[in-house]
Amino acid sequence: MKKNWMSVTLLLAGIYNIIWGTWVVLLPHQVFNLTGTSLPKYPEFWQCIGMIVAVYGLGYILAAKSPLKHWPITLVGFLGKIFGPIGFVQAISNDVFPLSFGWNIIFNDLIWWIPFGLILMKAYHYHLPKKKKLRTVLQDEFSNFPDRKRAAFINSLTGLKSVHLVGTQDDEGNTNLSIVSSVFHLGASPALIGFIVRPDSARRDTLNNIRSNKHFTLNHIHEEILENSHQTSARYPQEQSEFNACELSVQTLNDFPAPFVEESRLKYSLELVREEKLEENGTHLIIAKVTGVYLPEGAISDSGAIDYEMINPIAACGLDAYYEAFKLGRLSYAKPEKRPYWL
Ligand SMILES: Cc1cc2nc3c(=O)[nH]c(=O)nc-3n(C[C@H](O)[C@H](O)[C@H](O)COP(=O)(O)O)c2cc1C
Repeated sequence: MKKNWMSVTLLLAGIYNIIWGTWVVLLPHQVFNLTGTSLPKYPEFWQCIGMIVAVYGLGYILAAKSPLKHWPITLVGFLGKIFGPIGFVQAISNDVFPLSFGWNIIFNDLIWWIPFGLILMKAYHYHLPKKKKLRTVLQDEFSNFPDRKRAAFINSLTGLKSVHLVGTQDDEGNTNLSIVSSVFHLGASPALIGFIVRPDSARRDTLNNIRSNKHFTLNHIHEEILENSHQTSARYPQEQSEFNACELSVQTLNDFPAPFVEESRLKYSLELVREEKLEENGTHLIIAKVTGVYLPEGAISDSGAIDYEMINPIAACGLDAYYEAFKLGRLSYAKPEKRPYWL
């Protein structure tokens, strides 16, 4: 989980709700005794409130995973935290509750107004359609950006891409793993995949292993192994396997002579077809044939396409930004005189 202030707020709110709710369910009279409030006739209703508060707590904890995406949970909680105190003020003015009962209101509601309000404001701005003035960046300008800025700008230009771990093995059986985002589909029949390896001006273990072994694996990355996967891009010594260094497990499937990543949910084996050095920048285009695919049971939809909702892969932009991807739906086959429709 990404630990930003919004996630921390929702986690704390969730834990608080679960503790408070459980207390009220298990010891319904105690709040009334402590605050000198007369006991309700049916404590079961009060326990029911405790149960709802605790269940909300679970909602906050789940929302903490991605607060901007799960803003409706925060909104519903926020509304409860607004209406609760309004009801309390009314109850005070009708002499139903003593003021001392207000401790509950302070900790259950008031202290959360600002952080919940800020999360909702941030979510609002995040989801607002973005219409900004057009900014033109011509070659003259971006080629004069400082080196790192220019690289980050151009690297992120092609947007969100799938990220894989390339699993390889050298002639001595030493395994190697590296993260790549340049993997692309080359054709379905034959089943060909391509990806780009940086120029071999420095030592390139992945490239060397593919050259000598001719076989390698591609393993999709999901959130739980994202940090470990990112770490494989560090320059480890040749004799050190990134599997060990980055705490990912080697998996051998079907006696394939290159390692898979056990934690990956969708992985495939490939056989080198051709390597092409691209003259323009010295990078290497690897063209490979898919020889086997390993994925969860049920992940192949009726149409034959892989259901990525079962895989939850991460998308990458440039060399350090990662995104979650959500399916919008499938559109019908496009025909000239017909608007596509959602299937
Ligand atoms: C998100 C991300 C994407 C990357 N994509 C590629 C890529 O497509 N091709 C490449 O050669 N290196 C890419 N890299 C860099 C390699 O992971 C890095 O150079 C790694 O050390 C190579 O390992 P090796 O020497 O074991 O082959 C990427 C790094 C990151 C963080």
